[in-house]
Amino acid sequence: MSEPTHPLVPQPCTLVIFGGSGDLARRKLIPAVYNLLLDGILPPNYAILGNGRTPLSDADFRQTAREAIAKYSRQKISEKVWPDFERRLFFVAGSLQDPKAYKALRQRLEQIETDLKLPGNRIFYLAIPPTSIADAVEGLRSAGLVQPPSSEGPFSRVIVEKPIGRDLDSARKINEAVSRVFDESQIFRIDHYLGKETVQNLLVLRFANSIFEPIWNYKFIDHVQITVAEAEGVGTRATYYEEAGTLRDMVQNHMLQLLCLVAMEPPTDLGADSIRDEKVKVVRSLRRYAPQQVGTYVVRGQYTAGAVSGKPVVGYREEEKVNPNSETETYVALRMLVDNWRWSDVPIYVRVGKRLPKSATEISVHFKRAPMVLFNRDSTALDQNVLVIRIQPDEGISLRMMAKIPGTSLRIEPVKMDFHYGTSFGKASPEAYERLLLDAMSGDPTLFARRDEVEEAWAFIDPIEHAWSQKENAPPLSFYPAGSWGPEEADELLANDGRTWRRL
Ligand code: BG6
Repeated sequence: MSEPTHPLVPQPCTLVIFGGSGDLARRKLIPAVYNLLLDGILPPNYAILGNGRTPLSDADFRQTAREAIAKYSRQKISEKVWPDFERRLFFVAGSLQDPKAYKALRQRLEQIETDLKLPGNRIFYLAIPPTSIADAVEGLRSAGLVQPPSSEGPFSRVIVEKPIGRDLDSARKINEAVSRVFDESQIFRIDHYLGKETVQNLLVLRFANSIFEPIWNYKFIDHVQITVAEAEGVGTRATYYEEAGTLRDMVQNHMLQLLCLVAMEPPTDLGADSIRDEKVKVVRSLRRYAPQQVGTYVVRGQYTAGAVSGKPVVGYREEEKVNPNSETETYVALRMLVDNWRWSDVPIYVRVGKRLPKSATEISVHFKRAPMVLFNRDSTALDQNVLVIRIQPDEGISLRMMAKIPGTSLRIEPVKMDFHYGTSFGKASPEAYERLLLDAMSGDPTLFARRDEVEEAWAFIDPIEHAWSQKENAPPLSFYPAGSWGPEEADELLANDGRTWRRL
């Protein structure tokens, strides 16, 4: 076993959560801190201060946190640990637009720091809509809550949730607003896919093994598929989703991050900027679609009524708070090309959607067929070797290869070599938010997106959104019944190249 290359040392701090009573805080953030505590990796001294418009008392917030942990945490409530955790939870109500709210926040924060003897390190988590980010950072600045970066004094850091804007222009404005208040070294733009254990393993798979890298290029790889399937529908987030749609919600960030890790060159070292430099080069190398190509290479779909796991579900347009004529996409499939030497003419097919038959995320690398001699005289006789990286659930890696069926005649069949995280390491992977909060407390930005990555990603997305928003000649929206694998057009996207989507 190798030594950890950079053990994380989280510093005592206060986590201030804007949007503290919201969905993300309850489902992910508070349970994540709690699990870090149970795993013994939280700093010995810490506090959480929630902020939001709902006037909650500390007692209310503690109760909400307890219920959230009971419902969403991967580890159960421990009555032994709970009293000490609970006394470190606080809430201060206030509107992000009200300058007085930031003064109240400051008073409360200073009081907590004094009472708990905290050193004044602060992480401001902006779990709020992108349109409120500028107000929040300006409010923090004017209330004197942000310290400049220094190696000695207490630190101030900000975690910015996705989506950062809704196009390149708004993303730039947000980035500029945040940069007026925080130095880039203090800004942590979160993309929770980067915190997933299997996603981090992609770099290890590629660069800690000697057998993959020599064949990881256009000479050996036929194509790559990246799938993020979700069985859930839009749930309670229709108001956000109506504005965002799948391209902004998933492709601009999570899908492009996955693609970057598959396609990037080896970084010079494991430093945050070395890795991010390589990722951003991939996004820059993505072939941009001309307006008339969007309809050919990008499929957008929306689910209609259907059944998932045998349960009938309504169509997107019938969901609560969705416009009955909504044109918002809940599914996207793209055929992408990375225009560089390594990936010359290797298509990367990406698909992502809600209300698909199951929830599963995987990356599959399809290798070219063996030459047409010996066993392969008929070009379809042998399957391709496929390396599958299962991101979730059942995290693992499998390799499909050809084997002889035992017997006197020569019959060949594909078989699978399979590695499962669960059985090999025998312990549950931490949640992505746990890892990322720990990194932010330790000041390690490697698994966070840099400003240029976010903006380059929008530069790729914008022409697609632009083509879709045309009044005339916009590529059509396709429909798929809930519980199916997406619209027929997505199958045609691959069929046009003589390929099919992998069955998950
Ligand atoms: C979020 C999106 O970023 O990721 C959601 O806003 C999506 O729409 C979610 O459901 C998927 O995350 P995970 O970790 O469940 O795959």
